[in-house]
Amino acid sequence: MSGIYRGLVSYGDRDFSRFLRRAFLHASGRSPESLDRPVIGISTSTSDFNPCHRQQPELVKSVARGIIAAGGLPMEFPTISLGESFLEPTAMVYRNLMAMDVEELVRAQPMDAVVLVGGCDKTVPAQLMGAFSAGRPAIQLVTGPMSTGRYQGERLGACTDCRRFWARYRAGDVSETEIGEVERNLATTAGTCAVMGTASTMACIVEALGMALPDSAAAPAVHADRLRLGEATGAAAVSIAVAGRTPDQVVTAASVRNALRVLLAIGGSTNALIHLTAMAGRLGLAIDPDELNELSDTTPVLVELKPTGAHYMEDLHASGGLPAVLHELRDLLDLSALTVTGETLGERLGDGPAWVDREVVRPLSEPSREKGGLVWLRGSLAPSGALIKRSAADPALFETTGRAVVFSSLEDLAARIDDPDLDVEASDVLVLQNAGPLGAGMPEAGYLPIPAKLARAGVRDMVRISDARMSGTAYGTIVLHVTPEAALGGPLALVRTGDQIRLSVSEARLDLLVAPEELEKRRADLPEPATERLTGYRKLFRDHVLGADLGCDFDFCLPAP
Ligand code: FES
Repeated sequence: MSGIYRGLVSYGDRDFSRFLRRAFLHASGRSPESLDRPVIGISTSTSDFNPCHRQQPELVKSVARGIIAAGGLPMEFPTISLGESFLEPTAMVYRNLMAMDVEELVRAQPMDAVVLVGGCDKTVPAQLMGAFSAGRPAIQLVTGPMSTGRYQGERLGACTDCRRFWARYRAGDVSETEIGEVERNLATTAGTCAVMGTASTMACIVEALGMALPDSAAAPAVHADRLRLGEATGAAAVSIAVAGRTPDQVVTAASVRNALRVLLAIGGSTNALIHLTAMAGRLGLAIDPDELNELSDTTPVLVELKPTGAHYMEDLHASGGLPAVLHELRDLLDLSALTVTGETLGERLGDGPAWVDREVVRPLSEPSREKGGLVWLRGSLAPSGALIKRSAADPALFETTGRAVVFSSLEDLAARIDDPDLDVEASDVLVLQNAGPLGAGMPEAGYLPIPAKLARAGVRDMVRISDARMSGTAYGTIVLHVTPEAALGGPLALVRTGDQIRLSVSEARLDLLVAPEELEKRRADLPEPATERLTGYRKLFRDHVLGADLGCDFDFCLPAP
């Protein structure tokens, strides 16, 4: 059964169920003939609490136009939306809730395919995780990036420039008045963060996976190209529905490897690795950390976008978009990978864009960095792994052995980091505990601020280690996602101020240089885990969330082995 008759409500009389469904659809004023068309759901995520999705209503209209022109019946439906800076303790906690929302609504409602319209960091992975589990034909349309603002002749874009100016404000270089002006010019249009942060990285990854139309990642939210992409995506969804092309035909080990190559070549966000792991996991595909490191060592960084370069997403769009990057990488990609429209990646790429701005997308022969952005670390401090974004880090700190200065929680960090009496030096290693998925919902707190007294003395970077995440727009020598997390009794929980920690990016190691006997003694002294009584979704999250190495998905959402 397809179209509006898919998945009938049970009344014990199938003909009555069909009759009733038609009767209620007539209430929507659609022509009776249109009810016989393939039904294309449009999963929307508009919310006043998500300014990044502000233009979605207009974009959704363009999708509907494309669906109708191609002979389909568009049916828009809302899901929850996750505005990155509006959810306490962090949007990360609610990604899986949105994934469940999308999965169940795609499965339960009568649609032959779905267009997923999202953009802000967690929304795209949530939509794809849900659609992958639902197993219905699906295509992603991202809202597109913001355009840049201006401040005293300087281009500004959320959110690398947010952090840059905030760091200068903390260091006393920028006044109260100036930071207020900057605040009003950082995010000036609809759309997602303007740099290669998590939202932009996810948009590129989705295109590389083949789950979106070609050249759809970078078109700005307010550009007419975005609306044209909306129409084309709507039309493509009808073809996908007719072909019955489900995500498992598109997202394979080959396309996930292609997506990892792209993640590395664009200097993408560390968060994207968590999301890609979770998305692939929904289809029974795993990311091998050793393979990630191997890919990282053999994939140059080609894209000069902030936070690792100087440009913004709108510049990437004007420079050939992601197809320019893919074309440059073609010898490193599996071009036989199928895409959602039925062509292979190689067929999509063709001869590549007519013109590429080499200031923005470097040629493979002259990359901005010889090696990819991410390194998966292992060692006694992170037995199941940790991640460093070497493309955003200071190479001078890649090989560091230093004294730990430990903060036991986010509250402890906030209370002491700027204390003038804090015993800390530039050569120390800042450690934050209990900020992992269970400990605190895994906020983007891994970008520990440089202690104010050091910042004022001109220190701009230090080695910082935590089980938290970091915004894709941030930069620094920052080790994240330490697994197992401290709240689960991982070795991170055993670090004490004064311990020696060794980071070696060349060896992909992160080690706590403390004798095992001493660590066992400390383990025995660890406090019992809190057993606060939780209800509803928060209980579900606490009982079922997996570690960062498994994408922080819920254990019960993974397919049977
Ligand atoms: Fe929405 Fe950055 S806050 S993409």
